[in-house]
Amino acid sequence: MAKIAIIYYSSTGHTHKIAETAAEGARAAGAEVRLRKAAELAPDAAIDSNPAWRTHIEATRDVPEATPEDLEWADGFLLGSPTRFGLPAAQLKQFVDQCGGMWFTGKLQNKAAGAFTGAGNPHGGQESTLLALQNVFYHWGSVIVPVGYTDPLLGEAGGNPYGVSYTDTGQEPLPDTVLAAAKYQGQRIARFADVLARNIDDL
Ligand SMILES: Cc1cc2nc3c(=O)[nH]c(=O)nc-3n(C[C@H](O)[C@H](O)[C@H](O)COP(=O)(O)O)c2cc1C
Repeated sequence: MAKIAIIYYSSTGHTHKIAETAAEGARAAGAEVRLRKAAELAPDAAIDSNPAWRTHIEATRDVPEATPEDLEWADGFLLGSPTRFGLPAAQLKQFVDQCGGMWFTGKLQNKAAGAFTGAGNPHGGQESTLLALQNVFYHWGSVIVPVGYTDPLLGEAGGNPYGVSYTDTGQEPLPDTVLAAAKYQGQRIARFADVLARNIDDL
């Protein structure tokens, strides 16, 4: 059974929903999953300027905060962040930047890795955020597992081959098509992580 870490940052809940749904998919594929949030860095004044942000923080109080050890534990992982000016959020980057010691000692090598994101606009930078996250995976020596066009449901969700992405729906729930893609991405990373973990010593 693969061990999968799903590590995300979310201010207003959409990226968290993708993370949760990907976790469901990974569990459905038989994986043991750690769902973890990146620690909040924004000051209270910023958070309180957006009621949806404060509400989401309260709603996810019980989600454990990610530590680098979660990646060491995992055979594969997904990192997820909202798009911030075409890049991942600083909160997730702060988590990534705590992984220097594990990078240095090679502990992130050969693990299956993927990314997910969302943005306010249909062309607001989803791809650039995913590619930025995947830059990190090259440095770590991880094995990038893109979703590509490996299932028709990905096209129905918007057809982003770099990783699952959504366009912010505000108060409305994310479309079922996007959630189906998130579940698929969770299943896919779990299956690849399992194969890699069982065979890596033969490579
Ligand atoms: C500081 C900031 C920068 C953002 N930058 C972008 C952007 O470059 N393109 C875009 O389409 N949306 C942008 N957005 C919108 C968010 O990406 C979008 O609302 C996201 O879905 C929120 O995810 P969450 O609910 O998980 O926090 C930005 C939002 C904030 C607060």
